[in-house]
Amino acid sequence: MIPVFRWVEVSDIRKMARSTYELSFPEPESASKIGPGQFCMVSPAPHTSDVFLPRPFSYYRVDGPGTIRILFRTFGRATRWMAGLAPGSRIGVFGPLGNTFTLAPQARRAILVAGGIGLPPMAMLAGRLDALDEPPEIDLIYGEQAGDRIVDVGSDLPGRVRLHLCSEDGAAGQKGLVTGLFRPLIAGCDSPPAVYCCGPGPMMAALAGLVSSENTALFEVSTEENMACGKGICKGCVIPMTTPDGSVSYRYCCTDGPVFNGFEVKWPHA
Ligand SMILES: Cc1cc2nc3c(=O)[nH]c(=O)nc-3n(C[C@H](O)[C@H](O)[C@H](O)COP(=O)(O)OP(=O)(O)OC[C@H]3O[C@@H](n4cnc5c(N)ncnc54)[C@H](O)[C@@H]3O)c2cc1C
Ligand code: FES
Repeated sequence: MIPVFRWVEVSDIRKMARSTYELSFPEPESASKIGPGQFCMVSPAPHTSDVFLPRPFSYYRVDGPGTIRILFRTFGRATRWMAGLAPGSRIGVFGPLGNTFTLAPQARRAILVAGGIGLPPMAMLAGRLDALDEPPEIDLIYGEQAGDRIVDVGSDLPGRVRLHLCSEDGAAGQKGLVTGLFRPLIAGCDSPPAVYCCGPGPMMAALAGLVSSENTALFEVSTEENMACGKGICKGCVIPMTTPDGSVSYRYCCTDGPVFNGFEVKWPHA
């Protein structure tokens, strides 16, 4: 699907957890064609902010007839500007961009691992996997550093999805890291599951150390890199990949990804 740039009016913005907001806007044309893993670039209307470059955000939910929801956490200038938006604010949206997760793995079980604000593509993927004609069993592991950052994603997930929560401070869910929840889940699988992941680089690198082609049918990760254009021009978003001969090649997060075969990513990437 060809990405388009459009000015849209924010339909809703609400706080979901500490420093974390959900932003909704209309997308009448392409909403139903957006796949899990895809993202859009968000930019301010002229003269409304000192933010110059657009910023990438994964699609979180596609509702009914054409409403998109993204979930974002405040880090710097752009996300602070976004947190100050109100219904009716005008924003620029360029998308849908990037590739999608593989939706029909030959696996009877899917384990999705979301770290922090890596949650949006995992939540959308859980819904799409559940909607398959022959859905796999689905486990979604979701962890945050602090319990007050946990987003109440459970009410938005299909009932069959098993949600496993953790936080490093132990204030919500099990105390510890997502890898602590992942280990017993994968060990208990009677056949290799599909494993999908999105989160901070060190977390994904740690997960990559726990999977292999023997215990995992498919390992896909959604990567994040700083992006200036989103369309393969600025060359700012390269991801190092290993090649069969052991050398390193580079792919663009924006146009080749953001979803890659996790067995091919060179972890940890700088
Ligand atoms: C494909 C893709 C999908 C993304 N999806 C989402 C999403 O759904 N929700 C979301 O909130 N963010 C998402 N991001 C990250 C988001 O684009 C950045 O958080 C945003 O660009 C930060 O802009 P800023 O101006 O607020 O911060 P900047 O001024 O650009 O950064 C401020 C500081 O925060 C650090 N920082 C920036 N981003 C992150 C991060 N993700 N994690 C940790 N530290 C960071 C920077 O290194 C810097 O030190 C995605 C990124 C990519 C590439
Ligand atoms: S963001 Fe410009 S090349 Fe990827």
